[in-house]
Amino acid sequence: MGKAIVAGVGPLEGLGASLCARFAEQGLHVIASGRTQSKLEKVVQRIESEGGSAEAFVADSTDEAATEALFDKAGSELELAIYNTGNNTPGRISEMTSEYFEQSWRVCCLGGFLFGREAVRRWKAANHGGTLLFTGASASLRGRANFGAFNSSKGALRNLAQAMAKEYASDGIHIGHVVVDGPIGGEKIIKGIPEYAEKLGQEGMIDLKGITDAFSFLYHQPKNAWTFELDVRTSKEKW
Ligand SMILES: NC(=O)c1ccc[n+]([C@@H]2O[C@H](COP(=O)([O-])OP(=O)(O)OC[C@H]3O[C@@H](n4cnc5c(N)ncnc54)[C@H](OP(=O)(O)O)[C@@H]3O)[C@@H](O)[C@H]2O)c1
Repeated sequence: MGKAIVAGVGPLEGLGASLCARFAEQGLHVIASGRTQSKLEKVVQRIESEGGSAEAFVADSTDEAATEALFDKAGSELELAIYNTGNNTPGRISEMTSEYFEQSWRVCCLGGFLFGREAVRRWKAANHGGTLLFTGASASLRGRANFGAFNSSKGALRNLAQAMAKEYASDGIHIGHVVVDGPIGGEKIIKGIPEYAEKLGQEGMIDLKGITDAFSFLYHQPKNAWTFELDVRTSKEKW
């Protein structure tokens, strides 16, 4: 059975958990990774109750040894690796500490480097290809007032992903980036900021299934028709 790793898995109605469910449905054994065992267990239970196969692996994406252990766990059957970790870090530059700025970069960019490096190392050592996908945001493509830390770290992740896509294509490793351009209609916004969700309405939030469709499309592309990047937004989004 082929395996998939998804890093940055949190609540059931979130993108990480939805990606886990999507690829388990497609017959992969999914290793769901995040920092909180109880959240990961719920994701695994839902997949198993629907006939899929999954396991939880607690790891902080900024921890090099934990990331290596995550890939050790997947072993040689790894086919798909998704770096979904990346929290928003709002704040004005003039009031921001260097620690806050650095932490944003660690989570969005350094973690993506550690994760991507392990994936390509393992696939190259085994002499077979694989698919490595990164979750982007509006922040990946443009700077915006009050979001400088997040914009710079997501932008750096995108450039890293593009460099890796060029560096490892000839090894049969497909690397892609999905720009999620706007608020996701998931737990973080619907439960976390309900007044904002209400203002946006269903039509103003990006559908989780629509996003996982984009990841699935990239994963299934044949070697002679690869896409690096897809963007997903609602019809209401100003961009
Ligand atoms: N939410 C949105 O509206 C939105 C919009 C555009 C793009 N995005 C992008 O979509 C991705 C997913 O965001 P989401 O908001 O939907 O969250 P999600 O996929 O529902 O959950 C992501 C989970 O990652 C875990 N995480 C955070 N820091 C981590 C770390 N250092 N190591 C390992 N796991 C960590 C958190 O759970 P624990 O705290 O339990 O570890 C978090 O709940 C992110 O890359 C984000 O930038 C989100």
